Amino acid sequence: MAALQFPTPDQIPADVRPNPERYENRYLIDGEIRIWGGPTYEVKSPICVRSADGSLSRAVVGKMPMLDRNESLAALAAARKAWDHGRGAWPTMRVARRIGAMEKFIDLMVKEREEVVRLTMWEIGKTRKDAETEFDRTVVYIRDTINALKDQDRQNARFVMEKGFIAQIRRAPLGVVLCMGPFNYPLNETFTTLIPALIMGNTVISKLPKYGALLHLPLLTAWKECFPPGVVNIIQGDGPEVVGPLMTSGEVDVLAFIGTSRVANILRKQHPKPNRLRSITGLEAKNPAAILPSANLEVAVKECVGGSLSFNGQRCTALKLMFAHKSISNDFAHKMAAAVEVLKGGMPWEAGVQITPLPEDDKCTRLRALVDDALSKGARVLNPSGAQFEGTFFKPAVVYPVTPEMALYHEEQFGPIVPIAEYESESEIDHFMRKSAYGQQISLFGTDPKVMADLVDALANQVCRINLNSQCRRGPDTFPFSGRKDSAEGTLSVSDALRAFSIRTVVSLASTDANKQIVGDIVTGRMSSFLSTDFIF
Ligand code: G3H
Repeated sequence: MAALQFPTPDQIPADVRPNPERYENRYLIDGEIRIWGGPTYEVKSPICVRSADGSLSRAVVGKMPMLDRNESLAALAAARKAWDHGRGAWPTMRVARRIGAMEKFIDLMVKEREEVVRLTMWEIGKTRKDAETEFDRTVVYIRDTINALKDQDRQNARFVMEKGFIAQIRRAPLGVVLCMGPFNYPLNETFTTLIPALIMGNTVISKLPKYGALLHLPLLTAWKECFPPGVVNIIQGDGPEVVGPLMTSGEVDVLAFIGTSRVANILRKQHPKPNRLRSITGLEAKNPAAILPSANLEVAVKECVGGSLSFNGQRCTALKLMFAHKSISNDFAHKMAAAVEVLKGGMPWEAGVQITPLPEDDKCTRLRALVDDALSKGARVLNPSGAQFEGTFFKPAVVYPVTPEMALYHEEQFGPIVPIAEYESESEIDHFMRKSAYGQQISLFGTDPKVMADLVDALANQVCRINLNSQCRRGPDTFPFSGRKDSAEGTLSVSDALRAFSIRTVVSLASTDANKQIVGDIVTGRMSSFLSTDFIF
């Protein structure tokens, strides 16, 4: 991989320059877009700019508020008021009108596509192609969620007759949901909890991720215009200062958190009434790939390069350890090294770019320490430029052979390192999964049906998705996305998420003529939103 050229200011194309002053330092509480008068922080891009003397500095692309405890509690008060013990305008609104609000939101959201894409490139270094895909995938997710809700509503519109009872069973909202998304999919993963929570009738506080916050600001007007005050509140600040008070208040009903298990544990423990809190989480993973002796190496290399290095390996679903059978491990590792070495590094807006600068503070130093630990214990970096770094740019490194003594064997690197371990018996892969703190997904590469079948059976109760001859991934978003152990709690997919943010509620009565008359009058008189046979196509 050729040396990366960070741009000088005049080398940044005019059409990608962000316009942060348009949005900076804003947040949304109780239907008001507010400008914060207190402390702020500079949003520093992973993209460094080179000055005339050759030194590098991270571009500053905007300013975000560091709200305080009081303002955070104001967001909670607004969300609770809009919930109003389930009697608020939004939680009692008929499904058709909630869907109408969401459709209006989509119309306004798509107008901000270019601005959000531009900010995604600057804030987290995602390539233009991937930033566009994230935006478009999110819009499709919202539309799919609307369709899934219509399906659910059609099912719920019918009355059930069972053992002398008439009943109507619907899914009802849970209350106030705190949504926190991660930096790697700051729009998509925030919305994959926020949207289903909202459309089910909950009210929401969204605390933005540390990196990938500014890109939410172009959407504040759309939130404000489409939903009643207090239904959506968007805040930002230091976690302990703004999230701590929300959790310790005991007034958050659902925690939807995508991030680390360490933070998830802290947040859950802060809630004084744990029985009342529902948690939906997506946490770490150390998804392995097993390259079996029978594997088609061309397929395995292509999938493992994409699986381990898409968005620089910063995906919870990324392949983070490749197990290659001893009979083919050397060949596989060198083919991987050759494929990784020619990946194009550059700025997110450059055509065909695959590897980009990393947003997390000191990330390159931490990645280099993981590589050095492996080198000190007998591994090698196989690709010539691997693990070299400058500023925020780390050249992807194929490290081989990785063994259980090395940190890279166990730790989630969440970055552009491709560790390859050798194995002799399939039981070593099973053993790795048994010992692992995580249980999200695995990829198996091979062509021998018997060996594949045995491994599927050995692993099916240890992970939540087994990918045959393909990399690990979340999509299609209609598939269930979950994990065992420290990888997740709950399941997210378009339809599962609607269930996660709601609870089944029943209205039931004995099937007598008098009762049938009452229900009939309620339904034909359209007196109730719950007891109703209305549905939408
Ligand atoms: O970071 C975790 C994401 O949910 C992964 O999604 O597999 O579509 O990249 P993806």
